[in-house]
Amino acid sequence: MGQTSTADGQTATAPTPRIQPRKGPDFGLDGDIPKYWLDNDPFKSRFFDALSCLFPDGERFFIACVRDYKDQITDPALQQQVKEFIYQEGQHGQVHTQYNNRLQAQGVNVDRIIAKQHRIMFGILRKRMPRVYTLGQTAAAEHVTALMAHSFFDSGVMRDADPRMRAVFAWHAIEEIEHKAVAFDVFQQIAHGGYFTRVSSMLQVAISFPLHTFVIMRHMFKVDELPNKGTTWLRGLWWLYGPRGVFTRLIPHFAAYFKPGFHPWKHGDMRTYENWQRRYAATGDAIAAGNAAAGGA
Ligand SMILES: [Fe+2]
Ligand SMILES: [Fe+2]
Repeated sequence: MGQTSTADGQTATAPTPRIQPRKGPDFGLDGDIPKYWLDNDPFKSRFFDALSCLFPDGERFFIACVRDYKDQITDPALQQQVKEFIYQEGQHGQVHTQYNNRLQAQGVNVDRIIAKQHRIMFGILRKRMPRVYTLGQTAAAEHVTALMAHSFFDSGVMRDADPRMRAVFAWHAIEEIEHKAVAFDVFQQIAHGGYFTRVSSMLQVAISFPLHTFVIMRHMFKVDELPNKGTTWLRGLWWLYGPRGVFTRLIPHFAAYFKPGFHPWKHGDMRTYENWQRRYAATGDAIAAGNAAAGGA
């Protein structure tokens, strides 16, 4: 059993889900999906598109950083979790590559975005930084993806989305929740990463992740020849960081990472997970499960 908590910090006991290695479903990404598929809004749609650009190589980085310590793991349960984590991240990379092919066809220079990201992650970080630090970055990034996964669907962010795109992010979110503690457990139990490494690697991730996302979005808006770019940015940044912004609401869960006794299973509302899991178990349909995750029938 694990502990879950809501954004206001209340904790409740809930079962910790098992990591389930699922083959990435067919989401119909080669279909006729509108460019601004989320709320007919350029900022919101391109925000998630930019995240998708970062996923395949980011996930290769996470896998490499956890693999550094794989041979030192003696606990069979953690060994198994690492195997399942690698499988899930591999599937995410494949589905988001299909997703990104769609963006490339729209004129987005996905190849250049990934090449630049690869140079930073594998050419600089993996070459120059200690292994324990890059694993710390992985655990930090997993916390950031998990906190988005726990709350984005529940807070209605994906309500007015194309069902295929929503289904991709819902499936990805659910698996991020399932494996959210794996990198952290390897960091603490195997790499013996300390508090300073945990905090410093998180601070770097917390700054570089949104900045990199915004640089990609800027490129996308240029490709789109979007009019009124200034207004789009202002409205979009308010949507993210305003008093009721989607990132603002995540602050308590985000900040929990800085508590000395933090563990991923002590935090995170499980409603999205339960809604998705129930529908997927009943139908095997990732689109229907995505609708259920977003609060639909
Ligand atoms: Fe992932
Ligand atoms: Fe992950």
